[in-house]
Amino acid sequence: MAIQVEHLNAWYDRTQALHDINLEIAPLSVTALIGPSGCGKSTFVRCLNRLHEEIYGARVQGKVLVDGVNIYAASIIPMYVRRHIGMVFQQPNVLPTRSIFDNVAMGIRLNGLASGKELNDLVEHSLHQAAIWDEVKDRATLQIEELMTTLKRNYTIVVVTHNMQQAGRVADRTVFFLSGRIIEEGETSQIFSRPEKRETEDYVTGRFG
Ligand SMILES: Nc1ncnc2c1ncn2[C@@H]1O[C@H](COP(=O)(O)OP(=O)(O)O)[C@@H](O)[C@H]1O
Ligand SMILES: [Mg+2]
Repeated sequence: MAIQVEHLNAWYDRTQALHDINLEIAPLSVTALIGPSGCGKSTFVRCLNRLHEEIYGARVQGKVLVDGVNIYAASIIPMYVRRHIGMVFQQPNVLPTRSIFDNVAMGIRLNGLASGKELNDLVEHSLHQAAIWDEVKDRATLQIEELMTTLKRNYTIVVVTHNMQQAGRVADRTVFFLSGRIIEEGETSQIFSRPEKRETEDYVTGRFG
């Protein structure tokens, strides 16, 4: 799916965390969000599937168009959005101490969709759908990068990362956030080797953050 973010602003009570974010994300691409702690990466990701507003006192303004449909339109049911737009976390598992099975099962259990044998089948089906079952079924761990590369065949991915090497290896495009604003966005290789903005250069060369 294509994602188009237009004039997105987000607040926690009166504190503004995102300022006029504009971004286009191509279908079946991997986009890495980078920037120092507190710059708004997590807030931005939560705005992409209507999770931000679940936080008490939190508010969103602006548009997020998914294949041309504004997920913030009055007619859209947030739960529907959340079921269709998943999240990729900084760690491979939402619950890092649990298995891949448990992590997938958790989402299904939370939605009250299945239990017992049915749950086992659904987890297998979900992993099959993500085309990774054959890769994970005999293994205890799976690297997030391999997972993203595989998922990219069917999904549009936006990922928050603190690991510059990881961003460099997996992301088509990289977005640099600072103080709730996008400072610079572009092809990953350009952002890392030829940034246009001084702040981006300082960040990717490790001068702060
Ligand atoms: N639940 C919250 N309540 C109030 N302020 C928050 C909350 N979560 C994040 N913030 C603030 O919003 C800003 C952006 O935070 P966040 O999106 O978590 O940044 P990042 O993920 O880049 O570290 C920060 O100033 C942070 O303190
Ligand atoms: Mg964060």
